[in-house]
Amino acid sequence: MNASPIPPEFDRQMMLRCLELARQALGKTAPNPLVGSVVVQDDYNIVGEGFHPGAGQPHAEVFALRDAGEQAKGATVYVNLEPCNHYGRTPPCTEALIKAKVAKVVVGMIDPNPLVAGQGVERLKQAGIEVIVGVEQEACQQLNEGFIHRILHHQPLGIFKYAMTLDGKIATTTGHSAWITSPTARQQVHQLRVACDAVIVGGNTVRRDNPHLTTHNQGKPNPLRVVMSRKLDLPLEANLWDIKEANTLVFTTKDADPDCQEQLQKKGVEVVVLSPLTPKTVMTHLYERQFLSVLWECGGTLAASAIAEGAIQKIWAFIAPKIIGGKTAPSPVGDLGLTQMNQALTLERVRLYSIGSDYLIEGYL
Ligand SMILES: NC(=O)c1ccc[n+]([C@@H]2O[C@H](COP(=O)([O-])OP(=O)(O)OC[C@H]3O[C@@H](n4cnc5c(N)ncnc54)[C@H](OP(=O)(O)O)[C@@H]3O)[C@@H](O)[C@H]2O)c1
Ligand SMILES: [Zn+2]
Repeated sequence: MNASPIPPEFDRQMMLRCLELARQALGKTAPNPLVGSVVVQDDYNIVGEGFHPGAGQPHAEVFALRDAGEQAKGATVYVNLEPCNHYGRTPPCTEALIKAKVAKVVVGMIDPNPLVAGQGVERLKQAGIEVIVGVEQEACQQLNEGFIHRILHHQPLGIFKYAMTLDGKIATTTGHSAWITSPTARQQVHQLRVACDAVIVGGNTVRRDNPHLTTHNQGKPNPLRVVMSRKLDLPLEANLWDIKEANTLVFTTKDADPDCQEQLQKKGVEVVVLSPLTPKTVMTHLYERQFLSVLWECGGTLAASAIAEGAIQKIWAFIAPKIIGGKTAPSPVGDLGLTQMNQALTLERVRLYSIGSDYLIEGYL
């Protein structure tokens, strides 16, 4: 077969296919990235596909090469993240690609870890394999933004999600908040949870809203449900204490009510004492648990302290075209100590989505 040069449009299509494959393991790979791979023969035929299912299991390239078998020889391999070149829990993918005698490798983005960045590409080039880097790079970085943040900042990516009325309220003056947005938007939230490793609220939200914080079967798995409560002045019956559906972890202080602590532990809820108990110490603990991204679904008090401590990088604001009013009705972010409008935190890379009758504004701090 005579190979004609592969057009860039085809490369982009194949990279998007890699991302689609990678997404099949959404929420299951921490601390590893989401990676998909496609093996293509010179007649533009896909002869192998694979994705990384989770830590400790083979990488995407290995599954794709296995799927392609003998047909990997002389083929082009697409992969959204630079192939690894070091012995971790599994042997390096560069060696697997060289052994399979592939002709060309198309990489979406270089490994974000500055200590190993570029080494995989170098190794492949040394072995005489043609390498192209940067196809659909932005989409590749977007899919693995939690992984990239974790590697660069040694903290999970913090996402603050809230739902507010058009007049900027997250509850009524009495604290009632079910529901601000439409069922379509709430379903979207369930899906967003699938991509996160943990969901955090404060004690007040447990007392007021009694939330479930699950994905409601929008695709497993459920993130770890996390509560921050200083004194453990919490109800003994709550949806979060039913751990049949999802696990729950409560962070508290050494001054907490020992009875409540014991009752929670009896129900299978994990209780961890942190000193001090702050959004930052919580994120450090969750980083050590290997998490990539954490969804803050708390009220304004906790959200303000999480923003002030740098625990939040991304915002998902759901806005319902409703007005509830109320001078004392709470808003999404409590006191940040800012007094001049030119001190406002300005979001970057802002996108607006329309979801049913509501809107979602996404942006980065
Ligand atoms: N519309 C929405 O998107 C949305 C989302 C969430 C909540 N809400 C509403 O928001 C209201 C609750 O707001 P809230 O601000 O009190 O939220 P919260 O999510 O309960 O956070 C505040 C609580 O966090 C705990 N906490 C632990 N460590 C903390 C720290 N270092 N800094 C700050 N808080 C810490 C405290 O719990 P302890 O008192 O137990 O110590 C505190 O009462 C409710 O009316 C709820 O309906 C709305
Ligand atoms: Zn690998």
